[in-house]
Amino acid sequence: HSLPCSVCRFCTSIVAQDDIGNIYHGRNLDYGFVDILSKITLDVQFIKSGQVAYQGTTFLGYVGLWTGQSPHKFTISGDERDGGRWWENAIAAFLNRNYPVSWLVRDTLSEAEDFQSAVLRLAGIPIIAEVYYIVGGVSPKEGMVITRNRRGPADLWPLDPLGGAWFRVETNYDHWTTPPPFDDRRTAAIKALNATGQHNINFDTLFKVFLKLCIVVALQVL
Ligand SMILES: *[C@@H]1O[C@H](CO)[C@@H](O)[C@H](O)[C@H]1NC(C)=O
Repeated sequence: HSLPCSVCRFCTSIVAQDDIGNIYHGRNLDYGFVDILSKITLDVQFIKSGQVAYQGTTFLGYVGLWTGQSPHKFTISGDERDGGRWWENAIAAFLNRNYPVSWLVRDTLSEAEDFQSAVLRLAGIPIIAEVYYIVGGVSPKEGMVITRNRRGPADLWPLDPLGGAWFRVETNYDHWTTPPPFDDRRTAAIKALNATGQHNINFDTLFKVFLKLCIVVALQVL
């Protein structure tokens, strides 16, 4: 299970609210760098009692999820957070029997009834490594970036549309710190979202924001 650790080294997640209260949640996985992943990525649907209970994107042979949605309830994406030493993660995994971070995504998709309970589970259940969980809901203001320590939440960062914060961007750095200049996907995303404007945000324009980010990342690598 070492593969998924590198999956979200260069991930960006965005949750946004348009000016009539619709919530949009997007993420990219930067497949350009790990081309093999794009070949073994699966869109999966989990069925309960003959209905699609939840769906997500995962990798062949891997049980957890980094991205998923529970229809008409909430969406989740996970971005890697560097923190801790490998042996601390190992201890958390094997002695404390904590969840792998992607397993908690799947568990939450399966168990949580709504945005609120999804946030509570993702923020509170012990996991084996630090991570960012980005959650979107179905009602106004239902957007949250959860910065996780292994034991619990380090920070909760909700949408605040009334205060002007109609989107939240999470890459792979704590939102209260300045990202390193060689990997500032955050500012690129914020600029693109500012240029788009709350009035114009929708699935198409959010997708275009991600296209711009791919170009930014490619240029940084070149
Ligand atoms: C985006 O817009 C906000 C609000 O107008 C502004 O405070 C912020 O500096 C802008 N950020 C960038 C990177 O353009």
